[in-house]
Amino acid sequence: MRSEGVTTPFGNADVAVVGGGVIGLATAWRVRQRGLDVVVADRGDLGQGASRAAAGMLAPVAEADLQERELLAANLESARRWPAFAAELAEATGIDVGLRTCGTLLLGRDRDGAEHVDRERDARERLGLPVRRLLGSQARRLEPALAPGLRLALELPDDHAVEPARLVAALVRACTDSGVRLHPHTEVTDLAALPAERVVVAAGAWSAGLGPVPVRPVKGQALRLRDPAGPGLCDRVLRWGPPTPGYLVPRGDGRYYLGATMEERGFDTAVTALGVYELLREAGEVVPGLLELEIDEAFSGLRPGTPDNAPVIGPDPDDPRIVWATGHFRNGILLCPITADLVVGALTGEAPPGAFGRGRFGAERPAAAVQGGAP
Ligand code: FAD
Ligand code: GLY
Repeated sequence: MRSEGVTTPFGNADVAVVGGGVIGLATAWRVRQRGLDVVVADRGDLGQGASRAAAGMLAPVAEADLQERELLAANLESARRWPAFAAELAEATGIDVGLRTCGTLLLGRDRDGAEHVDRERDARERLGLPVRRLLGSQARRLEPALAPGLRLALELPDDHAVEPARLVAALVRACTDSGVRLHPHTEVTDLAALPAERVVVAAGAWSAGLGPVPVRPVKGQALRLRDPAGPGLCDRVLRWGPPTPGYLVPRGDGRYYLGATMEERGFDTAVTALGVYELLREAGEVVPGLLELEIDEAFSGLRPGTPDNAPVIGPDPDDPRIVWATGHFRNGILLCPITADLVVGALTGEAPPGAFGRGRFGAERPAAAVQGGAP
């Protein structure tokens, strides 16, 4: 039964989604496709939280947490769904989300880097994940802009990328056209007061302010770069490992995304000289030509992290009216298609509670949960 008599800007709904990032928007679209009346409330502009800051890598193999088999399986399955998801969005909206099936190279530029690459390769081969070891010279034949001293590389042929800004635009259009009621600049402070039969919490790094879920912000600083000469510096996603991990994502048109720091600084989103320096210092060692690029933007975003790095998806064990769709940490773009489907399954009762329920954490909640202004 719907709640009555509560004043909100949007009136009653079958499902209220709190948070208009990629997770909330994709979920709302899918739920609406089931014929339910859906409203999305976001306290800021739609898609301007972590979703705006993301690189858009679909990296189930590069970012595999090999200890968390259920998460690995979900990442791989979501990557498998991505081409159909992108095609369906393009069909529904006319917006191309920029899916590039470019593959990825993990680079080891010195001896330590090469050892890291070999460890990563062993671990992935043991699980049957697709990887190919390349000597530095072989990698440079694929990507001539790589530094001459490069020791070793690992090719990850199935790790691709999309453009998050285009994804947000497509999801907003898909929601609008299908009849989802979108309410930007609408903050939700009390889930119980929402006049909706079910409530999906997709509030990203801010989710712990709405209920007992152990989601914390993990800051990432990054740069958008542009080559005035056009595309060609590199074609594949390039990644490098410790001591300062980073990655370069080409958009195929002369724009590049260089990311990203990993910082435990609460809700601080300042872009710092040190953060930008470290990104450029490492990247310049791996792809020296990158230092010639122009900087379009330096920015940061807050990843929604959890204690085990896996998302929280499914009905709340203490209040089944609430369905969580949060905590996607480093892989919310990748996990967007499967999350939306899992939430539909939870709302309709078609899917059994999966491995990502909140119940696995008990009542944990980070101390800083209720801090943090609008993204
Ligand atoms: P968000 O996009 O943060 O959306 C949450 C929304 O909830 C916000 O718009 C916010 O305004 C709203 N909100 C919060 N509280 C309230 C409230 N009380 N009332 C109303 N609205 C509220 N993932 C990948 O898969 N690939 C990548 O390459 C990648 N790179 C990344 C790089 C960086 C630097 C960062 C920071 C993240 C990256 N990620 C990547 C992770 C990805 O961005 C996130 O996992 C994903 O965007 C989470 O989406 P979301 O919709 O849950 O959160
Ligand atoms: N997945 C890339 C990042 O979170 O930085």
